[in-house]
Amino acid sequence: MLEDKLARWNKVKEVCLRCRACPLAARRTNVVFGEGVLESKVMFVGEGPGEQEDLQGRPFVGPAGQLLDRMLAAIDLDRNKNAMICNIVKCRPPGNRTPTPEEGQKCLPFLRAQVDIVRPRIIVCLGATAVRHIIDPEAFITRVRGQWLERKGFWITATYHPAALLRDPSRKAEAWADLKSIRDKIKELGL
Ligand code: URA
Repeated sequence: MLEDKLARWNKVKEVCLRCRACPLAARRTNVVFGEGVLESKVMFVGEGPGEQEDLQGRPFVGPAGQLLDRMLAAIDLDRNKNAMICNIVKCRPPGNRTPTPEEGQKCLPFLRAQVDIVRPRIIVCLGATAVRHIIDPEAFITRVRGQWLERKGFWITATYHPAALLRDPSRKAEAWADLKSIRDKIKELGL
């Protein structure tokens, strides 16, 4: 089972590493496919690689990533043990601009494949870009954060992007409430 997941993951990753479907490919240093445990019950989805991620080819390894790791640890999650971390777009948007809806759409088949392989029970959108691609193109993070919706067997929720929390620490109390809600859902589902 795990070997099967690994083989499928590596196959999709191989295709992703060669992808040139949108203009982001031209300026990337590395494709940032995603990382974590393939058996994870919880998947976190960010926006797209920043500078450090582009250089290292790994998601959430810059300042926002360090905060994300602490947020995960607060609810007993860890990308090396029981969590998966992916992004909407796998290549860095220049200057860390928000990816365009077209770039997001071009890249979404990779995320869909990742979800299909990992089959997490919970998907956590980190910030507005993930919310708009996964939950509703018109949604506002301030309105949907902390809410749950069940779709096709997945429990989906959202919280602030850690980069937003670094810019505006006054949102940390809400983010902590969202994390506790994720911890409660993990318990409720017996994961
Ligand atoms: N921000 C994101 O959305 N994703 C990363 O991988 C890093 C920073």
